[in-house]
Amino acid sequence: MIRQRFVRVFWSSLILYELFCLFLAGIIRDHSPSYLPPPLPGILEGAFLLATLLPLYLVLSFRGFLPRRRILNVLFFLFYFSAGVFFVGFLLSQTLIALHNLLFSDSKITGASRWTAGESTGGLLLLTLFGIALFERLRPPRVIRKTLFFPGLSPDLSGTTLLHLSDLHVGAWQGKGSLRRIAETARGLSADLVVYTGDMIDYRPEETRIFEKIFGSLQGRLGTFAVLGNHEYWTLGKRAPDFMKSRGVPILKNESRIIQRRGGRIRVVGVDDPAGEDEGSGCGPDIARSFQDVEEGEFVLVLVHQPTLWEGELKDRADLTLSGHTHGGQIGGRRPFWNLARIFFRYDAGLFEAESPALHGHFLHVSTGLGYYGIPVRLGMAPEMTLITLCAPASGSPAPAGSSLP
Ligand SMILES: [Fe+2]
Repeated sequence: MIRQRFVRVFWSSLILYELFCLFLAGIIRDHSPSYLPPPLPGILEGAFLLATLLPLYLVLSFRGFLPRRRILNVLFFLFYFSAGVFFVGFLLSQTLIALHNLLFSDSKITGASRWTAGESTGGLLLLTLFGIALFERLRPPRVIRKTLFFPGLSPDLSGTTLLHLSDLHVGAWQGKGSLRRIAETARGLSADLVVYTGDMIDYRPEETRIFEKIFGSLQGRLGTFAVLGNHEYWTLGKRAPDFMKSRGVPILKNESRIIQRRGGRIRVVGVDDPAGEDEGSGCGPDIARSFQDVEEGEFVLVLVHQPTLWEGELKDRADLTLSGHTHGGQIGGRRPFWNLARIFFRYDAGLFEAESPALHGHFLHVSTGLGYYGIPVRLGMAPEMTLITLCAPASGSPAPAGSSLP
């Protein structure tokens, strides 16, 4: 019943939206800048109308009625992103002009010049943002370094480095050149442990070969581990764990491994992704099984794709949890600024410490990842890898609270 109502509301909204776009197309035609030669306003109107049909295409393709074409996802993003930015620029200029007219009544800006100011501001804002996006697309990945203090950490483990890589989405919008740059940067960091927190591939089984070829030789001195993300399950179904292992990817599926460094022991626990639940055959997160081998006195490092799982039992059981999945929304800024991921995730990007005093020194790190999903752009959320150094507080001094970095 609810579903039927939802479907009715959805299609009614889509029809209303298309009618609204027809109305906007009329405005575009009637208010096209006078410097455009005659066929262009008509072409603009037609292109606008075609672009407004993209949501309809996406809905039909997701339901399997039409073939999925990735290029149309890009057009969808480009159109709505551009329209949104242009509109924001336009509104901004109109607000400033209204203020100007209010303050300087003898030199009011009105008529055609008001429209032109709106178009120019919108266009300029759009160009600037595209320039920034292009710059972030072409530059090498950022390396973020964090030093974390753990009150109970064995001095033998102090100084251990973990390289956290996430959401590579090999194959989607990553050229091989860009992937090699990522692998080279990662290799140059010579980390003790290299870990991947899911979504190594995007949508095709062949991408596992590219992953193996480029990242197979990237190994931590003490080990390399990975957990699966939703994209591995979406692509490979319940075969995902075995298929990835057969490609040389060291998957931890609800299991753990021990890493010995001098007298200290790190227990690396890999918790499977909820996307696996739909596939059956023992896939999906199983916390009890994941932690069954953990022993007293071990430093517990948990790998899990989705940070939402930290809120449950992981927060209590893990000293440090590493995850990804959010991409930081790909657009926006880190806290205290806003990003798209904050709409959906409490733990969107960066480092979080458990609030309860009893869990002081229990951390979650959410990587914004190295790849792209859906849209081939990052704006303010450059591809990143994180090098985390574990530190024991110096003997005799009080334990520092948390990390040395924000
Ligand atoms: Fe992802």
